[in-house]
Amino acid sequence: MKSVLLTGASRGIGHATVKKFGSEGWRVITCSRQKFDDRCPWPGGKDNHIQVDLASPSNTIEAIENLKKKLDGKLHALVNNAGISPKTVDGKRLNTLETDLSIWGQVFHVNFFSSVVLARGLKNELVKGKGSIVNVTSIAGSRVHPFAGAAYATSKAALAALTREMSFDFGPLGVRVNAIAPGEVDTGILSEGTKDMIKDLPLRRLGSPQEVADTIFYLCSDQSTYVSGTEIEINGGQHV
Ligand SMILES: NC(=O)c1ccc[n+]([C@@H]2O[C@H](COP(=O)([O-])OP(=O)(O)OC[C@H]3O[C@@H](n4cnc5c(N)ncnc54)[C@H](OP(=O)(O)O)[C@@H]3O)[C@@H](O)[C@H]2O)c1
Repeated sequence: MKSVLLTGASRGIGHATVKKFGSEGWRVITCSRQKFDDRCPWPGGKDNHIQVDLASPSNTIEAIENLKKKLDGKLHALVNNAGISPKTVDGKRLNTLETDLSIWGQVFHVNFFSSVVLARGLKNELVKGKGSIVNVTSIAGSRVHPFAGAAYATSKAALAALTREMSFDFGPLGVRVNAIAPGEVDTGILSEGTKDMIKDLPLRRLGSPQEVADTIFYLCSDQSTYVSGTEIEINGGQHV
């Protein structure tokens, strides 16, 4: 049975991704700050869950030992999906002039550093599994966005660059590294005004978490064995 480690599994895109991999017969090891929720119906969910705060580098490094114990030496996919997008108290975007450095640091730890810490920490397992790494970036990484703040946008731009660097370094080890960049996907991370953007999206609708999960799965499957170092846009044409 193939195994995937997925961060940010408790809600939104991550939750849909657990369901997709589960339905394809994969073992899904999940990570989030919360304990496993007993309402989640998939078998073995509790045993395959690790509670970790990816904003804390020491907590993330500690979690790696725990994760290794759960794997039988092999990991077939790592999906770095957890992400945060802090706003001002009244829900507005945080720009470069007003973002507190502590927030900037927290965003980078969750959205950026955790990806390289996990990938490096589980390198041997990924090599044995001829694994695939998927980093979840964002359309906000390549342009100013009306709601996503500067810390978020720069962390996602850095994650896109990290994808390029990691694909170069992990490629000779037989591990593929790609990114997916969602646009406006219907989850709790969206701001209130997002609905006003729909009229300008070529497909005239939000994306669903399942549509994103399908692309993540594609990048971890045998359908994409020569795809590495790329970033797939999932945004209904928003980038045009
Ligand atoms: N929705 C969109 O339109 C959109 C667009 C572009 C990119 N994205 C990206 O897609 C990814 C998933 O987004 P989403 O919309 O599904 O967001 P979401 O519904 O807010 O879910 C975020 C996930 O990240 C986890 N997380 C947050 N902080 C964490 C921490 N410190 N340690 C561990 N886990 C943490 C959360 O789990 P806990 O709270 O349980 O810890 C949750 O499972 C993110 O990287 C986001 O930036 C989303």
